[in-house]
Amino acid sequence: MNELELLDIAVQVAVEAADTARRMRNEAITDVGTKSTVTDVVTAADRAVEQQVITALAARRPGDTVLGEEFGGAPVSGGGVRWIVDPIDGTVNYLYGLAYYAVSIAAEVDGEVVAGVVRHATTGETWTAAKGHGAWREGVRLTGSPATELGLSLLGTGFGYAKERRAQQAGVVAQVLPVVRDIRRMGSAALDLCAAAEGRLDAYYEKGLAEWDLAAGGLIAREAGLLVTGLSGRPAGPDMVLAAPPALHGPLDALLAGLDADAGP
Ligand code: IPD
Ligand code: CA
Repeated sequence: MNELELLDIAVQVAVEAADTARRMRNEAITDVGTKSTVTDVVTAADRAVEQQVITALAARRPGDTVLGEEFGGAPVSGGGVRWIVDPIDGTVNYLYGLAYYAVSIAAEVDGEVVAGVVRHATTGETWTAAKGHGAWREGVRLTGSPATELGLSLLGTGFGYAKERRAQQAGVVAQVLPVVRDIRRMGSAALDLCAAAEGRLDAYYEKGLAEWDLAAGGLIAREAGLLVTGLSGRPAGPDMVLAAPPALHGPLDALLAGLDADAGP
């Protein structure tokens, strides 16, 4: 099965999953628990949506493995497809009824993400990419922001759940804010990466993303022509994800590296 066929499956499953998330939000928020810290929440909907995705993928692709935010996953099977799933990215928004949360599903083959979809659960906007086939939102090809000046750029970012990390991130953002147009903290890394792919943000950076935050949105940003990296030539990963058009990537990388934005807790 090629990357376009995998993408087709991912889109079908994401559309149904986003419907479930939205419906459960409209009915009631139940079973709110916490994970890594007291502010890192999980709802019954996060679990129900992930279970629905796992079941839907297993029906279409028996034998593939799934890594999900809520239920984890088995180790990568040699040569097989691994699906990387965030059932609700933007869980705090979801909890508060803020309409900015999404389902993110990516297909990884041999350690490389080859297809990804992010479905905004309240607007229905759907961003997709398959490796080598560009990034799209409903028939519109995405090419990122044309911005060339960091000082005029609108940046997206986010903060982790652990207080030590948040303190470190606050120190970094305090130095970034005065030298850019403005900062947005919208609360869903997957949607932020899509916003950068579309040029609704000029660039995005965040320390501490998990695989499921990055997998689909990272491919969408890359296929839109953005450079998606860590700092100082390192690959994107838990220490840093910087997604920026080529003209902004160098200056933003230099700024963040100078602030040791990828260091610390
Ligand atoms: C979080 C969101 C948030 C980002 C955090 C993520 P969750 O994911 O993407 O925007 O700043 O780093 O953990 O908890 O809503 O799935
Ligand atoms: Ca997430």
